[in-house]
Amino acid sequence: MGPPISRNLHRTAKKAPSKGPLKASKAKAPVPETEPTSSLPVDLQQLLLNIFRDSFPERLATDIKPLLQEIKGHLYNRDFATAFGKEEYLETYALRWSPSRTLCYLEILHDLKDELKPFQNVSQETEVAEWNIVGLGGGAGAEIVALGGLMQFLSPTDEEQNIKLNIAAVDIADWATVVTKLRAGVVNKPPLSKYASAAAQASNKALTNPTSFDVTFHKLDILSTPPATLTTLVQNAHLVTLLFTLNELYSASVSLTQKFLLNLTTGLAPGALLLVVDSPGSYSTVSLNGTEKKYPMQWLLDHTLLTPDAKGNAPPRWEKVVEDEAKWFRLPGGLRYPVELENMRYQLHLYRRCG
Ligand SMILES: C[S@@+](CC[C@H](N)C(=O)[O-])C[C@H]1O[C@@H](n2cnc3c(N)ncnc32)[C@H](O)[C@@H]1O
Repeated sequence: MGPPISRNLHRTAKKAPSKGPLKASKAKAPVPETEPTSSLPVDLQQLLLNIFRDSFPERLATDIKPLLQEIKGHLYNRDFATAFGKEEYLETYALRWSPSRTLCYLEILHDLKDELKPFQNVSQETEVAEWNIVGLGGGAGAEIVALGGLMQFLSPTDEEQNIKLNIAAVDIADWATVVTKLRAGVVNKPPLSKYASAAAQASNKALTNPTSFDVTFHKLDILSTPPATLTTLVQNAHLVTLLFTLNELYSASVSLTQKFLLNLTTGLAPGALLLVVDSPGSYSTVSLNGTEKKYPMQWLLDHTLLTPDAKGNAPPRWEKVVEDEAKWFRLPGGLRYPVELENMRYQLHLYRRCG
């Protein structure tokens, strides 16, 4: 089998899976200076960072570096149960790694607005239009706060809001408290100093209101969730996300991940979208007929979702709508945050469930 065809950003339809495995090596490149920085309003990006800063004041009251070192050690050893095993680790992880991802996801969601089509059919009447999103591996809150930021583009005024996001965050680790705190940061006004001017107090607004932004948390191992439970969770979803999670699933078990993706396919309604974002150049080892081969993540994914059945007479289950093998998210200048932020490089795949 030859290497997959290399592709760049394009919007496409019904792409056949490329062939794997691939033998290239993973290279860590600096951000090319030609890459533009995020074009979304810096004020909005700063508001999202402030939500993280204000949600976990206890962690920032002391030096978080020792806790970060401990978490990094557990992540390095792939001991996820310990890395995500206690509240102070979860809060510290969310403070350090979720903010950059939030800004990156906001840009991705904004860029994909035409494909995601949230609320394209919202009527002018009083009826509330709902957009259901399931964030698999979404406990650390980056997706939630990014969706809070997206509300600014979906519904810029808070009068007579007739749209609502219902977000289900699903994760193997118990992120319930972190999720509750971050959702509160999205739907409540940011805290102001008691010395804030009257003008600052008058213009202080929440990103959205509590009735328009529902978030539930589900502690589940998605690789061992029974198909019926998974279906209940996703059957009304308009969008399912797997953000920096799929490669972890493949690393845990390629066969269980393929089974999970097929169960997800069965559970989703036609038209539902699946957004996968992960590090570019992620590989998983698959044993086939006694030999081990490394396959690129996107090849395994395309193979599972897009390959027609053996006889070729069943209708396709998915079509690929957007793909980008490697893209940069560059932070704009002028952001303030007490912990390190970083530019990000990612691959992106958006699929639509066929009828
Ligand atoms: C690298 S983090 C990404 C978190 C978040 N999606 C983001 O982009 O910031 C991967 C997440 O997937 C979760 N995860 C890993 N394996 C899982 C599984 N089998 N079932 C559910 N969640 C899982 C982890 O607990 C962790 O929160």
